[in-house]
Amino acid sequence: MMGFFFSLMSHHKAVPTCFVFFFLLSCTCFTSTEAYDALDPNGNITIKWDIISWTPDGYVAVVTMNNFQQYRHIAAPGWSMGWTWAKKEVIWSMMGGQTTEQGDCSKFKGNPPHCCKKDPTVVDLLPGTPYNQQIANCCKGGVLSSWAQDPTNAVASFQVSVGRAGTTNRTVKVPKNFTLKAPGPGYTCGPAKIVPPTKFIQSDKRRVTQALMTWNVTCTYSQFLAQKTPTCCVSLSSFYNDTIVPCPTCACGCQSNSSCVNANTPHLASVVAGKNNFSPLVQCTSHMCPVRVHWHVKLNYKEYWRVKVTVTNFNYRMNYSEWNLVVQHPNFDNLTQLFSFNYKSLTPYGDINDTAMLWGVKFYNDFLNEAGPNGNVQSELLFRKDKSTFTFEKGWAFPRRIYFNGDNCVMPPPDAYPWLPNAGSQKEVSLLVLVLAYLVSLLFYACA
Ligand SMILES: *[C@@H]1O[C@H](CO)[C@@H](O)[C@H](O)[C@H]1NC(C)=O
Ligand SMILES: *[C@@H]1O[C@H](CO)[C@@H](O)[C@H](O)[C@H]1NC(C)=O
Ligand SMILES: *[C@@H]1O[C@H](CO)[C@@H](O)[C@H](O)[C@H]1NC(C)=O
Ligand SMILES: *[C@@H]1O[C@H](CO)[C@@H](O)[C@H](O)[C@H]1NC(C)=O
Ligand SMILES: *[C@@H]1O[C@H](CO)[C@@H](O)[C@H](O)[C@H]1NC(C)=O
Ligand SMILES: *[C@@H]1O[C@H](CO)[C@@H](O)[C@H](O)[C@H]1NC(C)=O
Ligand SMILES: *[C@@H]1O[C@H](CO)[C@@H](O)[C@H](O)[C@H]1NC(C)=O
Ligand SMILES: *[C@@H]1O[C@H](CO)[C@@H](O)[C@H](O)[C@H]1NC(C)=O
Ligand SMILES: *[C@@H]1O[C@H](CO)[C@@H](O)[C@H](O)[C@H]1NC(C)=O
Repeated sequence: MMGFFFSLMSHHKAVPTCFVFFFLLSCTCFTSTEAYDALDPNGNITIKWDIISWTPDGYVAVVTMNNFQQYRHIAAPGWSMGWTWAKKEVIWSMMGGQTTEQGDCSKFKGNPPHCCKKDPTVVDLLPGTPYNQQIANCCKGGVLSSWAQDPTNAVASFQVSVGRAGTTNRTVKVPKNFTLKAPGPGYTCGPAKIVPPTKFIQSDKRRVTQALMTWNVTCTYSQFLAQKTPTCCVSLSSFYNDTIVPCPTCACGCQSNSSCVNANTPHLASVVAGKNNFSPLVQCTSHMCPVRVHWHVKLNYKEYWRVKVTVTNFNYRMNYSEWNLVVQHPNFDNLTQLFSFNYKSLTPYGDINDTAMLWGVKFYNDFLNEAGPNGNVQSELLFRKDKSTFTFEKGWAFPRRIYFNGDNCVMPPPDAYPWLPNAGSQKEVSLLVLVLAYLVSLLFYACA
């Protein structure tokens, strides 16, 4: 909803529509914790439980988590999944995962269960786990790739052997209150629904087996739930104007400068290491964002134009593995060449492909290093001009929206974009649009 509104904003002729959307927006503001991402409307994480055998006091289930989100992944230290048992179930044993706490198993004589908690929390095992504790798709330290970037690694599984549970499909009670942390908040999971049993095609493709019973849980993400402040911002520049438009001041909040580290501090490394806790530690900047995306309109050819994109990490405590960008610009329907990034067109509105996902090349620049001399990645994009729409006026050459790792980046205000020399056109941007933009941004942070 919000995003759609912003995309209309960038077309000035849509002013009357703005009113309608502004009205709708103010109505939906307080329900905005409901997850909906305009650029990935069908994105979700699905948790599926397949009962593969009954045991004397329960069942063995394979739990599979599929990340169907186009561009949101779960990075280290990884996911954790929780639920509440419907009765007095216990987990006798697990493969490919473990609970974080065993809980009170004092009632059990002999071999105690793996976990006796009413509300267990499961985490993935680490890479290098002995083979006899692994199952397929496990043991990646909780890292889950996004669907567009690496569908084969967008899945995670573990196996649980449940005791003191129902032993037929009529007596089994599905667990309740599923939670998914990545590792912080952000995901909301719906109730488990019993669905037709999953069919498994054997590797020789000549036989199909099926689960004894299956239930699904769908979890969706909301940036509003995840954090109060933005995590990245956008700065702009162009060959036709010397002005570099910086990220908005305090785009990611303005904590006092004591919570950031000055890049010119002598013995920087030991200062950073000395501040020993695990919260992010950013370099002191006017925007205070951990990540900045810079869009530079670099060259103008007869048929083409060229952009340089630089992503800079200002966080001393974070390496971003498998980072990605989502960029919305009308010329992505004619992207001709891209250097040293991967590209996939996303088409959230059906046939309009003005949205692109960009990510690093494996083993080359898919790893965005912590803040410092190596803490950046860059690429150049070559677009073919469509004579009917192409212009350097009114900031058309700049992106409408940028996401870093699925989080919306704060853009400079439209009236600050670099101007074409002698172009008075910027002044045409009506006061109304600016006032609306300001109101919307206020609303955005009021809701967040
Ligand atoms: C979850 O995502 C998948 C893939 O995009 C989609 O087919 C499914 O309908 C979604 N489920 C829900 C409940 O939105
Ligand atoms: C339970 O199993 C019976 C056959 O044993 C089957 O007819 C029924 O559809 C199953 N119910 C569910 C919810 O899977
Ligand atoms: C599940 O969560 C809801 C709301 O947080 C709570 O009211 C309910 O008691 C919980 N159910 C169980 C079985 O814990
Ligand atoms: C259950 O989830 C799986 C993916 O984990 C999906 O393929 C399947 O379509 C889902 N079933 C239903 C009925 O939503
Ligand atoms: C923090 O430091 C940066 C650079 O040293 C400066 O530009 C910014 O204004 C300072 N912010 C605050 C809130 O003092
Ligand atoms: C980031 O990666 C580098 C090189 O792999 C490593 O030396 C450094 O400790 C990592 N930093 C963090 C915060 O994990
Ligand atoms: C954008 O979509 C059009 C039509 O759907 C297609 O012909 C074109 O190749 C797409 N462009 C890119 C860069 O994917
Ligand atoms: C791309 O550019 C060409 C040449 O200007 C134009 O004919 C075409 O409509 C543009 N769009 C797409 C989707 O190819
Ligand atoms: C460059 O753009 C800025 C707005 O960001 C404007 O104030 C300035 O006058 C422009 N410079 C020229 C030479 O047009």
